[in-house]
Amino acid sequence: MQLLDGKALSETIKNELKNESDALRQKGVIPCLAVILVGDDPASQTYVNSKEKSAHTSGIASIVKRLPAHTSETELLNLIDALNNDTSVDGILVQLPVPKHIDSAKIIEAIDPKKDVDGFHPFNVGRLMAGLDGFVPCTPFGVMKLLEAYNINVRGMDACVVGASNIVGKPMMNLLLNASATVEICRSSTKNLKEHTLRADLIVVGVGKINLLTADMVKEGAIVIDVGINRNAEGKIVGDVDFANVAPKCSYITPVPGGVGPMTIAMLLANTVKSAKQRVL
Ligand code: GUN
Repeated sequence: MQLLDGKALSETIKNELKNESDALRQKGVIPCLAVILVGDDPASQTYVNSKEKSAHTSGIASIVKRLPAHTSETELLNLIDALNNDTSVDGILVQLPVPKHIDSAKIIEAIDPKKDVDGFHPFNVGRLMAGLDGFVPCTPFGVMKLLEAYNINVRGMDACVVGASNIVGKPMMNLLLNASATVEICRSSTKNLKEHTLRADLIVVGVGKINLLTADMVKEGAIVIDVGINRNAEGKIVGDVDFANVAPKCSYITPVPGGVGPMTIAMLLANTVKSAKQRVL
């Protein structure tokens, strides 16, 4: 069993991005990411702080707009419009979830697809589905980079994606399809989930449920990618996989923390630098 070390790979990627940012600076372009956080959800605050810190280590400027929970949809749309029109801003990210009185689909569609570094705008969703270049959602993009770094070619593999969210499961399915895997998508409500996961050479789990994937659900030699981030009863961060018992059966597995999480942030920065490069074309 080999660990897929997302922490180490993310550091390498962030160093490479620092060099690319420095080269852009020489040409008068400072890559800039704008992050909008509405309300005071503690997990979202942690993610946003971490995005801000990592941007700086990669030579990317960041603007963080922290707005009160009672911010109206119109106020948020106006802010997005201003950032869309600000030529010094390369990437715009609205941290999800947004408060209930705001329609997240409307917010996502308001972001200029050329600045949509989350890859959530239907324009980029469609491009990914069609196998065209665009912005790819950071978490599944990070999973593909991690597999590539360990020379794992998914072509012809039976892949099982557990979780069908717009942020993880659906784009993961498209990336694996584009890389010539045979892909099945399951969710927490799937009947006999084990029947599906047991067949898979590659399992990607992102549901948000502790110990969802147990050793009896995994084929000997499978590759397991854990996208879950949960806090257990002792307050420790754990994934969706029963790591201690699943790991011995795997050829490769991601730890939590230190697997997919740090890759997500690295890919957000990569998308921001990619966007900034468009300014010098
Ligand atoms: N909330 C949880 N994950 C994400 C993400 O990747 N992007 C945004 N904008 N919000 C999130």
